[in-house]
Amino acid sequence: MADLFAKIATDPSMQAVRMGKETGIYPYFKPLSETEGTEVVIDGRRMIMIGSNNYLGLTTHPKVREAAIEATRKYGTSCTGSRFLNGTLELHKELERRLARFMGKQAAIVFSTGYQSNLGAITALLEKDDLAICDKEIHASLVDAVKMAGCQMKRFRHNDMNDLERVLKENKDAAKMVIVDGVYSMGGDLARVPEIAELCRKYGARFFVDDAHGLGVMGPGGRGTAIHFGCVDQVDLIMGTFSKSFASLGGVIAGDQDVIDFIQHHARSFIFSASMPPANAAAVLACLDIIEADPSYVERVHTQSAKVRKALREMGYNCGESVTPIIPVIIGSEMYTVAAWQSFFEYGIYTNPVLPPGVPPNKSLLRTSYMATHTDEQIEKIIAGFYEVGARIGLIQERETVAA
Ligand SMILES: Cc1ncc(COP(=O)(O)O)c(C=O)c1O
Repeated sequence: MADLFAKIATDPSMQAVRMGKETGIYPYFKPLSETEGTEVVIDGRRMIMIGSNNYLGLTTHPKVREAAIEATRKYGTSCTGSRFLNGTLELHKELERRLARFMGKQAAIVFSTGYQSNLGAITALLEKDDLAICDKEIHASLVDAVKMAGCQMKRFRHNDMNDLERVLKENKDAAKMVIVDGVYSMGGDLARVPEIAELCRKYGARFFVDDAHGLGVMGPGGRGTAIHFGCVDQVDLIMGTFSKSFASLGGVIAGDQDVIDFIQHHARSFIFSASMPPANAAAVLACLDIIEADPSYVERVHTQSAKVRKALREMGYNCGESVTPIIPVIIGSEMYTVAAWQSFFEYGIYTNPVLPPGVPPNKSLLRTSYMATHTDEQIEKIIAGFYEVGARIGLIQERETVAA
């Protein structure tokens, strides 16, 4: 009889994990003993964090902390039930109203995670004969959502409008949705939202943008990638998450009222899962208060990351098409990427190594990302580190001077 667990001993990725642990080069699940946003303590050492999605640095903002504590005092630690039944607080409703306005849509629905938001919306809307037309680099949660929906799926080359048009033309008559990320989570580049919207209009497709990394970062006041491009009305559904700029946990889908009502009554990840805890909802509301009153957080995440991007490119790093606070350092080989991660880690800079299947084979990279709260001194240290470590391990060539 076959043993279901037999594969564990021979699984190639688990063999790599075992080897990494034996050699002491295992970059994952590193516990942080302290974190104040831009700096963390790991293995007793203080280091600069450039591997976080805390883009606005609000996880430690006194008003956000206080809002979470106050909500816990008032409502307790959990809603212990689905939004559908006992798990809806006035706080959730307020958050939905505020987010709909912020994102420029009629209505919004909040889920307990960003992942569940994508699962819920897509499985509610797409059925067996419907077609999801997806950019090759969309987030894993969207791929899972489409698979779970059981609909047809076609992929188009990343941000390639000719390829998208080819797929749309070949499937003129299907009921279909084009699905993209607003900001791509590994490359830090933007979807070509206006052109995609135009193609959707031409071929009668609905348009879904996962703006997990754009909400709070892109557009005036951080109102998202569609608003950044001035075409929010041409996007049918916009997804956002609270686990990045909004310093919390949870997610949102915004769109027309009738579509949101439909999702609310059909999304299984919404109905069959407990609602966002009060502290998480209150933290997002506090973040909205802060960024609506003070645009400097959104401005600063761009100025700080632009300094690093410019310096890295001048040093000769390959940062792909990044135009956002996500700046990949594309290395290629998996082994070299892990070795580079280790060298930066030992230097005191925390990055995230991204290997296949997170990226295609031979496209491994260090994912770096920046926060509004990185000080100028930290930015200078990061740039100096990229120069020193990069030149030492041969990622870049040594030069006499480096522009900061
Ligand atoms: C593009 C994208 N979509 C969705 C998600 C899922 O969001 P969450 O982590 O809030 O569940 C993520 C998070 O990694 C993401 O990067």
